[in-house]
Amino acid sequence: MKNILVKTHEAWLVTLMASFMAKDCESKRALNDFSDILFRHFTWIERELIKNGIEYDYNRDQIPIKVDRLKVITNNIIERLNAIELMLPQLSSELSFRMSKDFDYIKFVLSKMPDEEVSAFNASRKYKDYNLTQEATDALTLFLFEESYKEYELIMIYNYLKAHSNDDFLNKIFQILVDESFFHLKSFGEMMAQMGILGVPRVIHKSLYQVEDVVQFLKDGIEEELAAKEQCKELSDAVAKDSEDLAKFFDFINYQENYHIELMKDALKHYESKGV
Ligand SMILES: [Fe+2]
Ligand SMILES: [Fe+2]
Repeated sequence: MKNILVKTHEAWLVTLMASFMAKDCESKRALNDFSDILFRHFTWIERELIKNGIEYDYNRDQIPIKVDRLKVITNNIIERLNAIELMLPQLSSELSFRMSKDFDYIKFVLSKMPDEEVSAFNASRKYKDYNLTQEATDALTLFLFEESYKEYELIMIYNYLKAHSNDDFLNKIFQILVDESFFHLKSFGEMMAQMGILGVPRVIHKSLYQVEDVVQFLKDGIEEELAAKEQCKELSDAVAKDSEDLAKFFDFINYQENYHIELMKDALKHYESKGV
């Protein structure tokens, strides 16, 4: 049963990456929706594992995604869904039914999705028609690699904490932070694909989400958010003279982090007052 979680985790990530690769708007939107649905499957399987007292973690295999045609990756997703389908009987009948019907539709749409050339791995390091200096391009590249991993890490950490907490107040905060990190991950992933440097975030070490001391975790998390703000600020400054659009975008991301910090402070206060 643990394996179905791993396979769903991998299928979700491949579909998310495929949504970054796609250029056709309709294909991109469908892949993006499907990746969200697969992530929800992932969280529901996780819930069943917890209910059944089965230990699990977020380890997974490396995911090769370097393709030159979209068809190759959509076929790969179909194969992955076929493999998961064989494991569905291990789940509750309700979840198994839901997933199998979702898969039928997803596979149907994927099989008809128009093929297109993929340029997400061409290493052009050009973003739109912006003329970024070498220095700004390097800063942006580094930022995107680091921060896309960071956002994936945050999604998984908050998801894990939420799965293991029965506290409504905290879970609302964790859910907002998951959603916010998704937005950041998707924004950065899109940019990476456009710059031809798309990559799957690396596997997260267990110790990061199997948090023993949540209070300390939140305190460190606030420090990290502050560091993320600083990085956005630096990046915005680095690209400001070459591209007003990019500078504005990173200011916008930077200011969003303020609210994350407030939410984490609320969670911290709640933890400390309840001693949960
Ligand atoms: Fe962020
Ligand atoms: Fe954040």
